[in-house]
Amino acid sequence: MKETKELPSALRIRRGGPADVDFVRTVAVDVFAYLGDYGRILPTWLLHDGVLTHVAEEIVRPGEGGRAVGYTMLGFYPIPKDEFVADLLAIAVAPDAQGRGVGRRLLEHAVQQVQGARRRLPIRELRLSVADSNARARHLFGTFGFTLLDGDHGYYDGGQLALHMSRKT
Ligand SMILES: CC(C)(COP(=O)(O)OP(=O)(O)OC[C@H]1O[C@@H](n2cnc3c(N)ncnc32)[C@H](O)[C@@H]1OP(=O)(O)O)[C@@H](O)C(=O)NCCC(=O)NCCS
Repeated sequence: MKETKELPSALRIRRGGPADVDFVRTVAVDVFAYLGDYGRILPTWLLHDGVLTHVAEEIVRPGEGGRAVGYTMLGFYPIPKDEFVADLLAIAVAPDAQGRGVGRRLLEHAVQQVQGARRRLPIRELRLSVADSNARARHLFGTFGFTLLDGDHGYYDGGQLALHMSRKT
């Protein structure tokens, strides 16, 4: 009898673009709907020139197309004294791909993107927002050295406290 063996899947991270609108929207609805209208908002950020989107794809067989499983969105904005802040606007992994390291790889990649951008821009720090109830994401961010910023944290449309975190680049 022929033995069938599942090949280990590899992960590739590539730039996102207009062809990813449906994937971005679907995952945003699945994972962020409880926070607000991100199924509408994130596709507009994907198409925005100032937002750098990357998509993680699982490659089951080399040479074949990948399956999109997650994404990050990064923005950059100026602050006083001619410096910049990078903002991780979104990091999301499709529910059926969560818990097997994709989020960690995406975050590592986003940090590398910001470190690369520092060659062109004086970026002081990388910031993000996360709901206080989101234990998994807060744990992940903590392991990357993100710490809570002081001050007014505000609320998501869904009523959750929005914590602001940052790490030095
Ligand atoms: C948060 C998120 C991006 C993490 O991605 P992921 O692929 O599921 O996470 P990983 O498999 O890379 O694991 C990351 C860490 O979370 C931990 N983790 C996994 N499931 C967990 C759970 N239910 N509770 C707490 N921690 C958990 C893992 O153990 C891992 O930590 P470790 O490496 O120290 O063991 C993903 O779960 C997600 O998209 N969630 C919904 C959207 C979201 O919350 N985004 C972040 C806020 S903007």
